[in-house]
Amino acid sequence: MQNFDLINEGKAKVKVAIGKISKELPVFYNPVMSLNRTISVLLLNSMSNTNIQIADPLAASGVRSIRFLKELNKNKISSLYINDYSKDAITSIKENLKLNKIKFNKSTNNNKKDNSKNKIKLYNKDANIFLLESFGFDYIEIDPFGTPNPFLDAAIKRLARDGILAVTATDTAPLSGTFPSTCMRKYWALPQRNETMHENGLRILIRKIQLVASQYDKALTPIYSYSTEHYMRIFLRCEKGKKKVDKILKQHGNYNNADPLWLGQLWDPAIAQKIASSAKKLSYISVQDKKFLNIIAQESKIHIVGFYNLPKICKKNKLTIIKQDELIKKIKAAGYQVALTHFANNSLRSDITKEELIKILNNASLVHHKIP
Ligand SMILES: C[S@@+](CC[C@H](N)C(=O)[O-])C[C@H]1O[C@@H](n2cnc3c(N)ncnc32)[C@H](O)[C@@H]1O
Repeated sequence: MQNFDLINEGKAKVKVAIGKISKELPVFYNPVMSLNRTISVLLLNSMSNTNIQIADPLAASGVRSIRFLKELNKNKISSLYINDYSKDAITSIKENLKLNKIKFNKSTNNNKKDNSKNKIKLYNKDANIFLLESFGFDYIEIDPFGTPNPFLDAAIKRLARDGILAVTATDTAPLSGTFPSTCMRKYWALPQRNETMHENGLRILIRKIQLVASQYDKALTPIYSYSTEHYMRIFLRCEKGKKKVDKILKQHGNYNNADPLWLGQLWDPAIAQKIASSAKKLSYISVQDKKFLNIIAQESKIHIVGFYNLPKICKKNKLTIIKQDELIKKIKAAGYQVALTHFANNSLRSDITKEELIKILNNASLVHHKIP
């Protein structure tokens, strides 16, 4: 018999199936992804737009949509379309909407056109059919099992001008270089299993999404991205026009032997800053998650691809590693930008050259080893 639990996530209360986290759960819910959902809320609230049409085509328990309804700023949502092809998921979404005292039309609306006044609309379709039969959205959430590939085409077709596409990928092994041939097949790029593998993987995923979009003269630019736990995550803003697409395609190239990948921005620094500062005020976000968002806000200011892994550089150049704080001070004093990166421990994102960094480390090692 399936066991259920009542849990609180953000401001939502949801009844979820408990058991081993896998596709086999009758309705999928992963508590580890609560940060993923929190960041969607914070990102949407960091933008000034109002009256947006939101699609949650792979909704499972509906927790994300419910959090949108309870936590997004007033007037943010004009309509929210919740879909899942599983009948059990639809039953669970209805139950969870009721639990949160959210009014909705009880019938699952599977007609092509829904003229009802209710701002929440429920669908029980294949996500691609749901998207293609729609009139388009300002925010589309693609949160699948594994690769987002099967849903990219329909989601991008239905993404409005200035709309946001939010994509999660949990197939990080191919993207970060464990299965290079799978990555070649699915993402049309060669990954590398090296110190920057997670950033490389995220950039490979971004390029793939951009290539799909370019077919429809849509230019997708990342405004917030990260890699953590078992997944990669990216929010992209959509502009239209051939010239804009050409500009995007010119920013594809090689980094640290991974090729080709997106070499442009991973973040809009203003959005990253707003996300981190709004998170600080929320009691339900852990200290660790606040720290994580703050690291991203700091590194977002440095427009550099990749980062320096200090143990690797020190080992290769036979240098002694020094305290991170001390090193950061020295890099700043030498006139460079520097920040920690959320992608890896003991690593720094900086516009300093490798030669200059080695020089600083070398001088510091000499000082540390000086006999008094
Ligand atoms: C990873 S879960 C989504 C989790 C959810 N977004 C959340 O934040 O908790 C993926 C969901 O997609 C649904 N799904 C998978 N393939 C689908 C398809 N082709 N069309 C519609 N739903 C699909 C599954 O039933 C499952 O509920």
